[in-house]
Amino acid sequence: MINLKKDPITPEKLYFSRRKFLALVGSVGLSAALAACGVLPTPSGFAPSATSEPDTLTPYDTVTHYNNFYEFSLQKEDVADLATGMVTQPWPIEISGLVDHPQTIDVAELMKAYPAEERTYRLRCVEGWSMVIPWNGFPLHKLLADIGVQEGAQYVKFTSVNDPSHYPGQKDVFFPWPYTEGLRLDEAQHDLTLLATGLYGKALPPQDGAPIRLVVPWKYGFKSIKSIIKIELVTDQPATFWNTSAPNEYGFYSNVNPAVPHPRWSQATERRIGELGRRNTELFNGYANEVASLYTGMDLEKYY
Ligand code: MTE
Repeated sequence: MINLKKDPITPEKLYFSRRKFLALVGSVGLSAALAACGVLPTPSGFAPSATSEPDTLTPYDTVTHYNNFYEFSLQKEDVADLATGMVTQPWPIEISGLVDHPQTIDVAELMKAYPAEERTYRLRCVEGWSMVIPWNGFPLHKLLADIGVQEGAQYVKFTSVNDPSHYPGQKDVFFPWPYTEGLRLDEAQHDLTLLATGLYGKALPPQDGAPIRLVVPWKYGFKSIKSIIKIELVTDQPATFWNTSAPNEYGFYSNVNPAVPHPRWSQATERRIGELGRRNTELFNGYANEVASLYTGMDLEKYY
């Protein structure tokens, strides 16, 4: 095992182009253009009958052919084809900021250092669909413990791959590339927070965020950032891709909360991919027993 201890905005302000934005709206529609999961949402006021069927695993073929990965495309069904041939080896990850042992380490080394566990988690997209996926990976807190988090670190910032010559979606200047996300330090250290390197016991396919992605099951799916190249420990709350793109619609916390509607649609129910009808969305995506204490005393309508 590697001893890691020894080894070393708003769109308007940033990248907004009115012409580009209008073209995007023209091609996919305003809701989809600004929707973190790229399909048209359930209109507010729609009151479907909800089921309470038990969780069953979403088939592998669905998990790998219905993807949000805007670096490739806004069209979920197109991502798998477009991502074929994505080069994921070698894949160095920079670990930096307020840490005792800053270093750049390849994913292959991380996988040797932290053997994969299987964790079946629900993933609930902000637009109202969900899946149940058997992930393989290791809890982020193990890496954080070894890397040595320094005093003053309050957030973890994650950055995705950034190369418009290989990721056609990044030519779209409307979005604030690279895709970034952030967690408060205690969220990042929570045992549910996983760095996933596989699913269904196989290597993570490119379209699902190869070779390494975050999975934060109590938050909307867009917090689960794919194809990570940098993990930084920082003092200030980092800007995130969706909060920068549409600050009035996507907050930093993004905890699944059926009582807090998206400004343009309800979050009360969800469509489990593969099921007929809809089911009620659960607070914290059903993980309240595990994570609610992280938010004691916080107004979750203000900190959405
Ligand atoms: N990470 C990056 N780098 N780029 C993205 O477009 N989309 C997010 C998230 N992580 C996204 C990302 C969204 S909106 C969702 S719902 C999940 O990935 C979807 O993950 P899946 O395709 O494995 O289901």
